[in-house]
Amino acid sequence: MEYQLCPSILSADFNRLGEQIKTLERAGVKWLHIDVMDGDFVPSISFGMPVIKSIRKESGLFFDVHLMVTAPERYIKDFVNCGADSITVHAEACDDLELAINLIKDAGVKAGVSIKPATPVNDISHLLEDVDLVLVMTVQPGFGGQKYLDECTEKIRELRELIEKEELEVDIQVDGGINDETIETVINAGANLIVAGSYVFWDNLENNTKKIIRKIEKLSENL
Ligand code: DX5
Ligand code: ZN
Repeated sequence: MEYQLCPSILSADFNRLGEQIKTLERAGVKWLHIDVMDGDFVPSISFGMPVIKSIRKESGLFFDVHLMVTAPERYIKDFVNCGADSITVHAEACDDLELAINLIKDAGVKAGVSIKPATPVNDISHLLEDVDLVLVMTVQPGFGGQKYLDECTEKIRELRELIEKEELEVDIQVDGGINDETIETVINAGANLIVAGSYVFWDNLENNTKKIIRKIEKLSENL
């Protein structure tokens, strides 16, 4: 299984975004987590296509686009054209989740489905054969810097068990409240794609990133 740190640029300094992405690359990052919010599915609005298109010109990182958007199927093609390598939609945001996933796959990128803290694993378990990743939100989507919700740990465990039982190769991504301590909990529970925003962008970006990548390597080796 591939373990990756996926820094979320939601916590970046947008005045220095290109420079900070270069720093992440230097520190060994391979995946970049890109949070798109529409002010409808979640209360806040972040950024969209022009920003992604612009950073794509300078970066070879894997662009992992997390759409916190109502009816995201309207925008799949646009995000692929902007440079997305994977697109994750929310189960709660789609009228026809299977259709949304098929649109993502037909567009030639990896497909992900995300569930909010209150949404049970059971709601998406029938789709495990169709997706590349499941994103388990470990805070309420909408803002960076929130506290990890302990009740989500069990969902990660449940999902990993299901994936193993069905002998599938589905990644489990976690997003929200990941820091030096909670990272241990999520990796032990079965997550392998680790989103972190405020923790990596706080203070010294390069040092924080290297430190957390080392920690992911160590924790995954000891499983
Ligand atoms: C929240 C976003 C997250 C956010 C995580 O809705 O999906 O990706 O940036 O931020 P932290 O790591 O600060 O909780
Ligand atoms: Zn996210």
